[in-house]
Amino acid sequence: MTRRHLARRGLNRLLRPLHLRIVTDDLLHEGDRRLERLAASFHDVYRAEHFPDLPERPTRAARLARLDGTQLPEAMHLLHGLHASLASGPGDVVEIGVCQGYTSALLASELPDGRDLWLYDSFEGLSTPTEEDELLDDTLGLGSMAAYAGRMAVGEESVRAQLAAVGFPPERTHIVRGVLGVASPPRELPDVVAFAYLDVDLYEPTLVALEALHPRTRPGSVLVVDDYGFLSTGPERAVERFLAAHPDHDRWVAEPPTGHFCVLTRR
Ligand SMILES: C[S@@+](CC[C@H](N)C(=O)[O-])C[C@H]1O[C@@H](n2cnc3c(N)ncnc32)[C@H](O)[C@@H]1O
Repeated sequence: MTRRHLARRGLNRLLRPLHLRIVTDDLLHEGDRRLERLAASFHDVYRAEHFPDLPERPTRAARLARLDGTQLPEAMHLLHGLHASLASGPGDVVEIGVCQGYTSALLASELPDGRDLWLYDSFEGLSTPTEEDELLDDTLGLGSMAAYAGRMAVGEESVRAQLAAVGFPPERTHIVRGVLGVASPPRELPDVVAFAYLDVDLYEPTLVALEALHPRTRPGSVLVVDDYGFLSTGPERAVERFLAAHPDHDRWVAEPPTGHFCVLTRR
C-alpha cells in the first residue's frame, strides 16, 4: 500500500463521523473498470445466447457501462435492431429524445461509414403530458404525470461531448433542436431511415415522430419505442394508434426483466 493510500485511509477514518469520504481518481477509475468488466461479461453471455450474429465492436463494453437509465438487455436489443436494419438496406439512423447522449454515443460507435446520425430533442426536458399520458410508474416520485413536464432537461453540449468521446464525425451528425408536437413534427429528416430509437416518454411526441418517420422507412427498417407500458401510458397508446393506420409492421414487445420497449419492423 502506497503512502497516498495510507493517507487517504487515515483521512477517511477521521471523516467518517461527518459521513464524508475522500475518493481519489484511481478509485473512480477502478470503479469504471469494474463496471466495464461486468458489462463485457453480460454482453458476451447475452450475445452468445440471443444474438450470435451481432458484429463485434472492441469499445462496446465501455459504451454499455456508461448507459444511464437504459438497461443492458434493452441496449442489446437496440444493437440487434440497429445491425439488422443496416444489413437490410440503405438509410440513416435516428434518435428522438437524446437527453445527455449516452444512447446516441452507443449507436454512433456502431455506425459504419456512409450512415449519418440524426438526433432530435428540445433540450428542455419532457413536454407537457396530454390526457393520453396516465402515470404508470412514478419513477421520480413526483406524484402526477403533469409534474414530469420539464424533467430530464440536459444541454446539447453534453450530447456533442459524448459523440466526440467516441470519435463520431461532426459532419455526419445532425442535431435538430425543437419541441415535437402536433403542430411541430420533426424537421430535416433523412431521406431514408434504416433505424430509429424513440425515447421521449410521452404520447404526442412519440406519435408525431412515428408518423413523420413512416414515409421514410422501407421494408426491414426498425423502430424501437422505449417506455412501452412504463412511466406513462403514452408511448404504448401512440404505437397502437400508429399501427392501426400503418399495419405493415411486425411488433415485438419486451417484457420485464428484458425491459419496457417495443420493436417495430416494417414488412
Ligand atoms: C428519457 S430522455 C432520453 C434518454 C436517452 N435516449 C438515453 O437513453 O440516454 C427523454 C428526452 O426526450 C426529450 N423530449 C421529451 N419530450 C419532447 C418533445 N415533445 N420534443 C422534443 N424532445 C422531447 C427530453 O428533452 C429528454 O431529453
